Amino acid sequence: MSENILIAIAWPYANAEIHVGNITGSHLPGDIVARYHRLLGDNVLVVSGTDSHGTPVTLRADAEGLPVEEVYQRFHNQFLHLFQKAGISYDLFTTTHTENHFKVSQSMFLALQQNGYLYPESRPQWYSPTARRFLPDRYVEGTCYLCGFEGARSDQCDRCGNVLEPEKLLNPRSKVDGSTPELRETEHFFLDLSKLEPEVAKFLRERQHYWRDTVVGQSLGQIESEGLRPRPITRDLDWGIPVPVEGWNGKCIYVWFEAVIGYLSATIEWAKINGIPEAWHDWWTDPAAKAFYFIGKDNIFFHAAQWPAQLKGAGKEFVEIFEEETGQPLNLPYDVPANQFMNLEGQKISGSRNWAVWGLDFLERYDPDSLRYYLTINMPEFRDTDWDWAEFVARNNNELVATWGNLANRALAFAYKHWDGHVPDPGTLRPADLEILAKVEAGFQSVGALLNGVKLRAALSEALRIASEVNKYIDTAAPWFEIKNDKAAAAQTIYTALRAIDSLKLFFAPFVPFSSERLHIYLGYTQPLFGEQYIDPQTDSLGTHNVLRYRPGSSGGLWEPSQLPAGQTLQLPAPLFKKLDEKVVVQEERARLGKKQE
Ligand code: MF3
Ligand code: ZN
Repeated sequence: MSENILIAIAWPYANAEIHVGNITGSHLPGDIVARYHRLLGDNVLVVSGTDSHGTPVTLRADAEGLPVEEVYQRFHNQFLHLFQKAGISYDLFTTTHTENHFKVSQSMFLALQQNGYLYPESRPQWYSPTARRFLPDRYVEGTCYLCGFEGARSDQCDRCGNVLEPEKLLNPRSKVDGSTPELRETEHFFLDLSKLEPEVAKFLRERQHYWRDTVVGQSLGQIESEGLRPRPITRDLDWGIPVPVEGWNGKCIYVWFEAVIGYLSATIEWAKINGIPEAWHDWWTDPAAKAFYFIGKDNIFFHAAQWPAQLKGAGKEFVEIFEEETGQPLNLPYDVPANQFMNLEGQKISGSRNWAVWGLDFLERYDPDSLRYYLTINMPEFRDTDWDWAEFVARNNNELVATWGNLANRALAFAYKHWDGHVPDPGTLRPADLEILAKVEAGFQSVGALLNGVKLRAALSEALRIASEVNKYIDTAAPWFEIKNDKAAAAQTIYTALRAIDSLKLFFAPFVPFSSERLHIYLGYTQPLFGEQYIDPQTDSLGTHNVLRYRPGSSGGLWEPSQLPAGQTLQLPAPLFKKLDEKVVVQEERARLGKKQE
């Protein structure tokens, strides 16, 4: 039975390029799970977009002396190109700077207000006498009152990972001019998380048996030790979504309150631009739908506590306010498989020091499947991992090329040569042939179960293990000897190998889709496995924004053992992957690290 699966991926801030740590943290795992469910034939929707508002983005624009709008658009367009090249198959990658997102966010704000979860209160807030303005969030840095880290931002500490209460920051200094800010009263709306705490705790307890320990620890753990406190959800800023209440001019909705609403608003935007405006309900109000949220560990609080609280608190009133129709409550997350971080050559990735491997830059020199392979096999699912250039080359050459690429290539090339470009007819298969096919076909269970449970490293290792079995089978049968005096036996071996590869192609497809797609064509199929990604401009009252879209393929329900027909016409095969020169790559790439970018 086909399921409604929402793949919700963290929205990158429009203040920096995307590096390999970001890709393996959220975009790639989301895409892998999405592609798997598409192969199963599920009703999959993958959404995200650019997180365009908030102080990360305005600070960057200040630093460049450019209008925020221009800076956000520049990064946004880069993101679209990167995801297209890397094959992160968003059904919709949009931005928070759209009329639709404004309206959805304001409706959720009003629903929470109507349900009694918002209240205004005057509180002390950092104010800069020199700049004559309030300094929210990242505009103030200082010492973390929890761990003593001296470079903490007022709203979040990068060392201990805690979300902070800004006015408690020690030794505050302004990011605008380095001056010392003072606390002044200003009025804001607060989301009363303490009232919603029982609901959030219940939600987490119901799911903790299948969630990652790291995620349960950081969310339920925090609730059980400290509890949830009310948090201000408006800011003294002018770039963002206006507070939809009279008399609140000049204040905006807090970026972390509205960006998470993007998952919902992007689904609504997707439905609208596809001419099926009601379809968003399939993922949000159908209680059987499952929503997976792919995020990094620094986002856990917002997705596992604050967002469920917003959804619960808005209740059926969101739909009533937004659509003026009978409302149903909104679905809570099914899973939040947050990843840890990836370091680079033993050090923390740092954009400002250019200690990073940038996605677009990497793809100028290497293939997307090499990137996806290494980032999956080394994915920080349970602990931090390290990108190491020598390991990247070794795994590419010894695993992707040697185990999987060569297997596919040698079987295809052999068949193409000796059977005149056709799948050989094996007659009746021998016990050894049936045995290896059974082993391969068990992968639909084993690889599938791991993918279902979002254990992506293990799923890829399992696919690789099965590929090694098939290599052993071919080595034992030795078709290059068989062909000399028993062509019928060689036909049995090569048919078996091709059929095994035809199934293996699906196990690898979520991880390395570009090569699986080519292999699918070499094997003689004419319908592609997956759909196509394209960039499409949209215009509304806020201006024009490009979005990344996905035109689905006809591939639903392919997750089944191969039935490769004998006699099928093959296409001239070419190697699936390139071997890399260890010396050159490692030297050149290490030399790039830490250097100023031109
Ligand atoms: N922009 C945030 C970050 O890069 C993530 C936002 S996820 C969202 O950490 F759901 F809130 F959009
Ligand atoms: Zn800290």
